[in-house]
Amino acid sequence: MNKITVVGAGHVGATTAQRIAERELANRVVLVDILEGVPQGKALDQWESAPVEGFDTVVTGAQDYESTTGSGIYVVTAGLARKPGMSRDDLVLKNAKIIESVAREIAIHSPDAIIVMVTNPLDVMAWVAMQTTGFPRERVIGMAGVLDTARFRSFIALELGVSVEDVQALVLGGHGDSMVPLVSTVSVGGIPLTQMLAADRIEELVERTRKGGGEIVKLLGTGSAFYAPSAAAVQMVESIVRDKKRILPAAAWLEGEFGLEGMFLGVPCKLGRSGLEGIIEVDLTDAEQAALEASASEVRKTMEVLGG
Ligand code: APR
Repeated sequence: MNKITVVGAGHVGATTAQRIAERELANRVVLVDILEGVPQGKALDQWESAPVEGFDTVVTGAQDYESTTGSGIYVVTAGLARKPGMSRDDLVLKNAKIIESVAREIAIHSPDAIIVMVTNPLDVMAWVAMQTTGFPRERVIGMAGVLDTARFRSFIALELGVSVEDVQALVLGGHGDSMVPLVSTVSVGGIPLTQMLAADRIEELVERTRKGGGEIVKLLGTGSAFYAPSAAAVQMVESIVRDKKRILPAAAWLEGEFGLEGMFLGVPCKLGRSGLEGIIEVDLTDAEQAALEASASEVRKTMEVLGG
């Protein structure tokens, strides 16, 4: 791919740009932020690492979108973090304004681009971006499932003392407390996890995964996770750029899949050159279906804050 833009040069955005460059997923990466000098400074610093790391992807920074023209993908990480005294709804309203302004620029400069939404609450921000750009659902996808799944897989691997590569899992639903890990689908080297670990211990790992973001926030004191979130976003970007057609859990606009419609929700997606190339419907147990519906209604409630 010729050019990929990362909007927001904060922790998640800058790390995403670095990972994309180091993997040479594009000839050029543009880092955009409203802060004066920050995207330029981080981009230059990254480019100066190129001779050592051995990549030829040129990284540049900008405050406006002119140099992003013709980007194939925009990874959107721009936004505000919740500050003391700011309600959750306040944050949604403020980030929605930011995403609207970012999405308008994307539609003007790169009308054929694919958007990977990372800004939280991502299921709702993806909807804002889709509405503002008028892009079809194939070209607006939210990042969360890969991150939640990676956290779950990393905990399982640590618990069993096995390679993370051999742990496969699927986490559906919204990002955070309402996510729906499909425990029956978890396998370790092809062996069902339920044959390797007691049910109550699995439940503890599920709970830790649910609260994975909060665990990092607590440890850091200020700020939130960015290594795993950026890795997750880049895995989605890679599947699109290299047309790998990987099946990854991601937030997609539902039109009747899983009996749900009219919201973004984490489901198994096929990601390739055209973006969202398919949604794979899995047979769910009654409890899993109920949990997915509860997750969907959480997303809907947040959409209502924005008049949706
Ligand atoms: N256009 C471009 N960048 C913007 C805009 C805007 N309109 N508004 C804010 N930003 C920038 C900020 O200047 C800041 O540099 O977005 C960046 C956000 O970076 P951080 O505060 O470091 O936040 P980060 O940890 O990177 O998280 C970004 O990703 O995982 C999610 O929940 C997380 O929504 C958050 C997002």
